[in-house]
Amino acid sequence: MNEFRFRFLTILIGLLISITSCSSGGGDSEPEIELGDPIANQATSITSSSFTASWSRVYRAESYLLDVSEDAGFATFLAGYNAKSLVSLNEDITGLESNMQYYYRVKAVNGAIVSSYSNIVETTTSFIPDSDQTLKKAADTFFVGVAVQSGKLNGQYDETYRKEFSSITAEWEMKMNVMHPSVDTYDFGPADAIVNYGQTNGINVHGHSLIWHNSTPDWVKNFAGTDQEFEDMIEEYITTVVTRYKGKVTSWDVVNEAVEDGSGNLRNSIYRQKMGDDYIAKCYQFVRAADPDVLIFYNDYSMIIDQTKQDAVFAMVDDFIARNIPIDGVGFQMHISHDYPAKADIQKATDRIVERNLKVHFSELDVRANPNKDITSLTAERSLSQKAKVKEVVQVYNSIPNDNKYALTVWGLKDSETWLTDFYGYVDWPLLFDGNYNKKDAYYGFLEGLQ
Ligand code: G3I
Repeated sequence: MNEFRFRFLTILIGLLISITSCSSGGGDSEPEIELGDPIANQATSITSSSFTASWSRVYRAESYLLDVSEDAGFATFLAGYNAKSLVSLNEDITGLESNMQYYYRVKAVNGAIVSSYSNIVETTTSFIPDSDQTLKKAADTFFVGVAVQSGKLNGQYDETYRKEFSSITAEWEMKMNVMHPSVDTYDFGPADAIVNYGQTNGINVHGHSLIWHNSTPDWVKNFAGTDQEFEDMIEEYITTVVTRYKGKVTSWDVVNEAVEDGSGNLRNSIYRQKMGDDYIAKCYQFVRAADPDVLIFYNDYSMIIDQTKQDAVFAMVDDFIARNIPIDGVGFQMHISHDYPAKADIQKATDRIVERNLKVHFSELDVRANPNKDITSLTAERSLSQKAKVKEVVQVYNSIPNDNKYALTVWGLKDSETWLTDFYGYVDWPLLFDGNYNKKDAYYGFLEGLQ
């Protein structure tokens, strides 16, 4: 290739390069800024009239545009919050209505360049109950229950029970090991005190529980008689107790926790060993014979999270319905955590009771705030998480058709007296009132769940 042609080609190529860089503006002008989309965080510092919106910093963003609306579609905007320009990464939104849903989103800006919208955050301002609002008044379609002890029915216990609750359950003193401590002894002292307290104060009494492997007295575990003699003894015990409280106790957990975890099999309790696999049905028939009106419940724990147990219990219930074995309701104990199980799973399991036209009892609600033992005091964040879970549980319960409602019972009054501390060996705050009878966020979550 001769020299002239080579020169001509190099000039041509040089020309071509300068033309293209000019057309893409790459001359010496800045490359186009690309703005990432902000991430909007969960609202914080939520009160009945305000919350704090915040979002992540976006690289090269000079400012942000904040939208706040009462509808998730942003068809309308809160005054002053239609693309409000801000340089900070958070904004206190004030002057809001209580117990109201709000939505916010944000964009990042650099000059004329604007990012796409962030995710949308939904938040609800706190609910201010009327000063004289109480749990039992707010829950006008079902009983609000609490687990009680015969030695704690006076003073501030009494005041709080009569003010807030419309049902009581004996936490431990209406179980066989207390009421029937030996073959020829019945001790109804504590049970009578609790039932009379209910009668005197017009508070419903739920009986808990006639047959439970964990409250079986030793003399029953070591029963030496024949299987028939055992069955006769159980029939006599159930008849004695149910007859004693006929017309005073509205309902009984006749059999409690009879299904094993995970396997769905019947526990191999002394009752099953002596009376056979159909012992539950027999016990239900003993109760019905003693009291034609008392509500008969089957009660168990992990009924949301243990699908095998849930399926086994509903298979048993369907068998009872098919065989006309008396059963009126199912109790989900609801020993849950602030972050588990999910509302949808609680709803799905609850629907299985309603589908069978039975009564639903959330019978022993407590909501662990410290399931992972990661806090040593109840933090504001964890307290709000607990509140949200309580609200969800109450929303699910309150959505049940009225004919299927019965009671939502919390398993204790004050955090300082929860069974969980002894059981797990470390501190937790699972109830609606703190150790000084103060209403917690969880209490207001209960009320908000009824709105
Ligand atoms: O109050 C007495 C005390 O005076 C005595 O010194 C002490 C020593 O025996 O006992 C204390 O009573 C204990 C009572 O809890 C009060 O704390 C009983 O022994 C103890 O058996 C009882 O435990 C109860 C447990 O059931 C067994 O009945 C728990 O309070 C109660 O929360 C727990 O509840 C069960 C439900 O019935 C079924 N579902 C699970 C739930 C939690 O385990």
